Amino acid sequence: MARNATNKLLQQAKKSKSDEFYTQLSDIESELQHYKEHFRDKVVYCNCDDPTISNFFKYFASNFKDLGLKKLIASCYREQEMDLFNSNKTENGSFYIYTGRDEENITPTSKDIAYFKGDGDFRSAESIELLKQSDIVVTNPPFSLFRDFVAQIVKFKKEFLIIGNINAITYKEIFKLIKENKSWLGINLGRGISGFIVPEHYELYGTETKIDNLGNRIISPNNCLWLTNLDTSKRHEDIKLTKKYHGNEIEYPKYDNYNGINVDKTQNIPMDYDGFMGVPITFLHKFNPDQFEIIKFRKGDDEKDLSIGGKYPYFRIIIRNKRLKRISQKTNIQQVTKKLEIPNFQR
Ligand SMILES: C[S@@+](CC[C@H](N)C(=O)[O-])C[C@H]1O[C@@H](n2cnc3c(N)ncnc32)[C@H](O)[C@@H]1O
Repeated sequence: MARNATNKLLQQAKKSKSDEFYTQLSDIESELQHYKEHFRDKVVYCNCDDPTISNFFKYFASNFKDLGLKKLIASCYREQEMDLFNSNKTENGSFYIYTGRDEENITPTSKDIAYFKGDGDFRSAESIELLKQSDIVVTNPPFSLFRDFVAQIVKFKKEFLIIGNINAITYKEIFKLIKENKSWLGINLGRGISGFIVPEHYELYGTETKIDNLGNRIISPNNCLWLTNLDTSKRHEDIKLTKKYHGNEIEYPKYDNYNGINVDKTQNIPMDYDGFMGVPITFLHKFNPDQFEIIKFRKGDDEKDLSIGGKYPYFRIIIRNKRLKRISQKTNIQQVTKKLEIPNFQR
């Protein structure tokens, strides 16, 4: 290959580096086991997945009957970097629709694969046509297009279970969905997602990299999460609260620019505080919407970052204990009613 062409490919590879993390089957199995009941009679679409290499495709095809799936669609963008150096690479995207036959031999051959007229971009009309036929989107999309990816799923009102970077929580659009209870974190997060397969030429660096016994190059960024709108029972488990605010006020300083207290760790959320509390974003991993409500993200009343004593290290989510709020509202109503009753009674 000419030197210039090689350089161009390497530059391309560098640009889309974090987009080329391929998900391991073990990580998919470990998350998907919690959602089985959602898949009966459903059409699953893996829209950033080359069915010949994707472990998402492999998982759904090999568990097709067990999950009771109706159909499985996988489609692939032309620039799947796994074959970036493959000169036979086509400019067109491709797709494969699997309907459950031949479960022992799930890997599609070239005669099973159909080609798009275009490049297979998940935003293309052809891919959207497949999306419309689907119920649940499950994949690890390109990180650089995460916002667009989620916006599209929301627009078409689809169910989803996807991998993203933990930072995605801080994106305005994604946080809004979480706040409004339209999306939430899945079960595994950070080190709970063991690592991704990276292409041959990808330089392994740092301690959290390895070559597995199949020769795959694995990198473990430990900064990913699952984002979903499929419910799980775990999401409705209460966070156990063991600390008290009253008597320990000094441990919970008030913000300069918001009427709330700072809580350093999720496990330190006090059981007896009915007002606003700022908690670390990792709280979302334990968040039970029956127990807490999310009020806002990061900013005080002045729309500047939350601060204490003029310092701004507080990247926090403001929450409130729903159950205590209800009790205090009830008590307030009773007190007000009582006050109103007295003059009535005297008249
Ligand atoms: C993070 S990788 C994950 C691949 C696969 N889903 C998996 O989990 O193993 C994201 C994939 O999306 C592909 N991709 C990049 N841009 C895309 C686009 N606009 N539309 C569809 N796929 C795209 C990349 O080539 C890459 O293979």
